[in-house]
Amino acid sequence: MDESAEVAIGASELRDKLAVLGNDSYTAETCERYAEMIAEIKELKKARRAVVLAHNYQRPEIFEVADFIGDSLELARNARDVRNADVIVFCGVHFMAETAKVFNPERKVLLPDLKAECSLADSVTAEALAERKEELLKIYPDLKVVSYVNCTADVKALSDACCTSANAAKIVERIDSENILFVPDQNLANYVQGQTRKRVISWDGNCYVHHQITPDEVNKVKRALPGIKVIAHPECRRDVLAIADAVLSTSAMLGYARSSAADKFLVVTECGLSDRLLMEIPDKHFYKACKLCRFMKMITLEGTLDSLRHLRYEIELTEDVRVGAKRALERMLELSV
Ligand code: 13P
Ligand code: SF4
Repeated sequence: MDESAEVAIGASELRDKLAVLGNDSYTAETCERYAEMIAEIKELKKARRAVVLAHNYQRPEIFEVADFIGDSLELARNARDVRNADVIVFCGVHFMAETAKVFNPERKVLLPDLKAECSLADSVTAEALAERKEELLKIYPDLKVVSYVNCTADVKALSDACCTSANAAKIVERIDSENILFVPDQNLANYVQGQTRKRVISWDGNCYVHHQITPDEVNKVKRALPGIKVIAHPECRRDVLAIADAVLSTSAMLGYARSSAADKFLVVTECGLSDRLLMEIPDKHFYKACKLCRFMKMITLEGTLDSLRHLRYEIELTEDVRVGAKRALERMLELSV
């Protein structure tokens, strides 16, 4: 556990910190209320021996109580390496909390709101995957299944390896098969296909947040702000990725913006990431796509506090699903070093 994260923040300090976001909803009263909740969460974390893991898309006030903030790959590694804690509170979506449970069967893993699912993850079921895999194995006997981590644990359990937006092409290249069934994101599958000579057979799923972004929207900003660097998430459509300067996972966007000589960026992914970029790199300019993930935003400071107070809502997995998902996740971690 990171002891430095346990220092409480005052209401005015919090307001100053959030001012960079230019968001009118962070009023003095709101910051006062948040500062109280943050202090209580930090106390409860000590009392419960809890760690809070948060995804990059979470609300900025959640970052204040997080022991670690990152993308799916970093969060999976972090969840695997949790020490000295009895409880993990996951501020993200359901499949991410499941991954934390896969690596921590003996710990309580809590998701503050069980409705925080992921519509992309729900676009493939274990039954449908098993059926498709059987069909394809007749045509491609060496077929392997690579599942993007945005899927349920029972889908992971039927996969040969998982991948994330940070390592998808690497995993497909390194897995020992020429024919890959890639589930569930068709846009990420197309992106990977552009980087390998292997056959990538995609599933018919997409992320509603990223799939709605059009090249027209991006081109409008490029015309208005010459020299702007476009950084896009690989869940975006092929025609959007084609006009991006870089295609990156959420955390890789942070690294790119930090080290780039450019000072303005169009961030083509969920809006929450732009908040993190603005808070961490205040001397550069970030323009956002204004697309919110309604599932990520179901996690609130109030919900996180209640989760720690009442130790809810617990993630449960059957042991066979947990062991199967662990094998596929570990394969990903081995292949991505
Ligand atoms: P990252 O792993 O790049 O953070 O992406 C997770 C996600 O859900 C994107 O929609
Ligand atoms: Fe799922 Fe899309 Fe939300 Fe990511 S942004 S959690 S893929 S619905």
